[in-house]
Amino acid sequence: MNLLTGNHKDGSLIGDNKEMAKSRKAFLEKGYFNPLKNFLVTYINENTDEDAVVADICSGEGYYSHSVREETGRQVCGFDISKEMVKLSAKRKNGNIYFVANLSKIPLETESVDLAFHLFAPFQEKEFSRILKENGTIITVVSGENHLFELKELLYDTPYKNDEKPPETENLQIKEKIKISEKVLLRSAEDIDALFRMTPYYYHTRPEDKMKLQGVESLEVTLDFAVYVMKKP
Ligand SMILES: C[S@@+](CC[C@H](N)C(=O)[O-])C[C@H]1O[C@@H](n2cnc3c(N)ncnc32)[C@H](O)[C@@H]1O
Repeated sequence: MNLLTGNHKDGSLIGDNKEMAKSRKAFLEKGYFNPLKNFLVTYINENTDEDAVVADICSGEGYYSHSVREETGRQVCGFDISKEMVKLSAKRKNGNIYFVANLSKIPLETESVDLAFHLFAPFQEKEFSRILKENGTIITVVSGENHLFELKELLYDTPYKNDEKPPETENLQIKEKIKISEKVLLRSAEDIDALFRMTPYYYHTRPEDKMKLQGVESLEVTLDFAVYVMKKP
């Protein structure tokens, strides 16, 4: 379902295109981000009831919501502004609900969600806190300070670390910060390229720097995720 309103309501001009969506799906399904996926699945299993209302804010092509559905049985309702991302999610036919929507106007009822997760996407405190039930939980994940540092070392003369800052929020209380860090070996040039394309760096790197990845067939990189568990009081 496409529930976007306003200028771009057909969803064709905004968000990631078909190629980006497919490449993200192919990369994630190789299991490189399993440590984060496993954390999420375990947290949801241990902290929600079977009939809990679970939402995936900016659900991308559905990798995490699909895993939650398969591994916990919880039904997830996921949305993203990119029509192509949502199409790929819907094709998974896993019993989850997916729709195209903007996080600045989430088409979910006020105080209807027990737990939401929100990975690597813009933060919108007002809407997030509106849709959560009292004492509801939101899990936000941002890149940790060392995330993909080896990739940045290859690309840039002066690579910088991420700031890992928690989201700015007044209405939601940060209860816990959890770090998930692990080294993984990217096993092909294709995987390195796919990961690079999933990052914001891809769009800000000069063509001559992008060339530095040519001929690199494997690369050990640090995965470093900062997970913030927040509650609506
Ligand atoms: C880096 S991707 C992360 C996707 C997914 N959470 C994951 O980790 O695989 C960021 C996602 O946020 C979506 N997005 C960006 N701005 C948005 C907005 N205003 N409303 C809804 N989705 C948005 C993009 O289309 C993209 O799919």
